[in-house]
Amino acid sequence: MNTIGIEHSLQDARHVLVVDDDPDLLRLMSIRLEAAGYIVTTAFSAEEALRRVADDPPQVVVTDLRMEGMDGLALFERIHASWPSLPVIILTAHGTIPDAVEATRGGVFGYLTKPFDGQVLLAEIDRAISLGGHHSGNTGGGESTAWRRAIISRSTAMEELLRKAALVAASDASVLLQGDSGTGKELMARAVHLASTRQDGPFVAVNCAAIPEPLLESELFGHVKGAYTGASRERAGLILSAAGGTLFLDEIGDMPLTLQAKLLRVLQEHRVRPIGSEQSVSVNLRVVSATHRDLQEEIAKGNFREDLFYRLNVVRLRLPPLSERREDIPLLANHGLARLCGKYGKSIRGFAPKAMELLLQASWPGNVRQLLNVVEQSVALCNAPLVPVSIVSDAMQDTPSQPLPLEEAKRRFERDYLTDLMRAAEGNVSLAARLAGRNRTEFYRLIQRHQLSPTQFKP
Ligand SMILES: Nc1ncnc2c1ncn2[C@@H]1O[C@H](COP(=O)(O)OP(=O)(O)OP(=O)(O)O)[C@@H](O)[C@H]1O
Ligand SMILES: [Mg+2]
Repeated sequence: MNTIGIEHSLQDARHVLVVDDDPDLLRLMSIRLEAAGYIVTTAFSAEEALRRVADDPPQVVVTDLRMEGMDGLALFERIHASWPSLPVIILTAHGTIPDAVEATRGGVFGYLTKPFDGQVLLAEIDRAISLGGHHSGNTGGGESTAWRRAIISRSTAMEELLRKAALVAASDASVLLQGDSGTGKELMARAVHLASTRQDGPFVAVNCAAIPEPLLESELFGHVKGAYTGASRERAGLILSAAGGTLFLDEIGDMPLTLQAKLLRVLQEHRVRPIGSEQSVSVNLRVVSATHRDLQEEIAKGNFREDLFYRLNVVRLRLPPLSERREDIPLLANHGLARLCGKYGKSIRGFAPKAMELLLQASWPGNVRQLLNVVEQSVALCNAPLVPVSIVSDAMQDTPSQPLPLEEAKRRFERDYLTDLMRAAEGNVSLAARLAGRNRTEFYRLIQRHQLSPTQFKP
């Protein structure tokens, strides 16, 4: 019953308290936040901030870390003790990783390193307000987040991706998930299903690389009795069993060409014809597919049908490697730890600071899966209240990611190389192209292939 939307949102105007001992920055932030429709209160010191919170609690506090007198972390602790559900975002110009770890471990909602992007700050504030325990009357009131509960994240990269996922879920568009192994593609496929109107229908996952070619056809399309030797009974097939729901085609890049043609027909005509049958059956489903391969490259090599690619790739979501979202590491590690303590019947409180630093700095070629494996091994071996660095470092040695196939290793190298170049050139494509010794058009095509956009590197 949300017919009183407008009045409601006026009453619930979002109230932010901004704390900084630099008056110019404080003014700048107020102007920016007010322009975005927030009600802003300011404080020049942590002490003043505490008085303001007591007078009129805001929905979120944004504070500088380094301040004369009480600093941002101490302010957070005071606020957290008296108003535990009030989210606090910390800004730091001197953002070192250990600071950030300390902060997120203590329960700070988020931290941003200065200079920060205005849009990122606004997004973070919105997220804090919508998740904070203070008000439920934020925009879109009663919006459920159950669909994304399994996905642990706090990075802006993942939040942005989840926002996009929610939007496409609401449509019926085909989604192609790209990302290195262990980045959470399957988890995201499920989230898209849960966020869609098909959530009560089936979610059927098929790993196209794991099923041998001759079997895959009948697994997917089904067959009638006697369709081939050994087909003693009729079988509906996975496509039909996903009717009304979502079909997740994992490792779609490994699907044989003959089956690609057959799948394309299903997507075009919304009908399936089981092997040996004269008739096709109508089927209504949404397809989410995933691959760690570069499909455009596979098309160029003649291994993948271009027309099928366009059908599958209506919306593309790219899961960033864990090394591009290090702020998710403490959250994932602590979550994993809590869950695994239950499994192993242990009561470990967390990671020692040096251990967490090690986790934060590792390169994680196997991404979230590899991180969770390291956490699991650490929990299994640890008998102390805090996991010491020695256990984590042993677990990391014992849990190497699998060696990559050459193609994949080359692709990753190229992407990392381009990312470094674009970062160095601050998003200036011409400059980056010159550094790489390529012409601009060629270079632009290259970064596009890796889904890197110049704007993401602009300061
Ligand atoms: N954001 C996340 N929060 C919690 N768990 C995650 C997250 N991302 C991945 N995981 C966990 O990591 C493991 C790997 O995730 P998933 O299977 O979805 O990855 P994938 O991209 O499909 O990998 P692959 O390409 O190797 O199949 C799973 O156990 C999953 O639950
Ligand atoms: Mg997978």
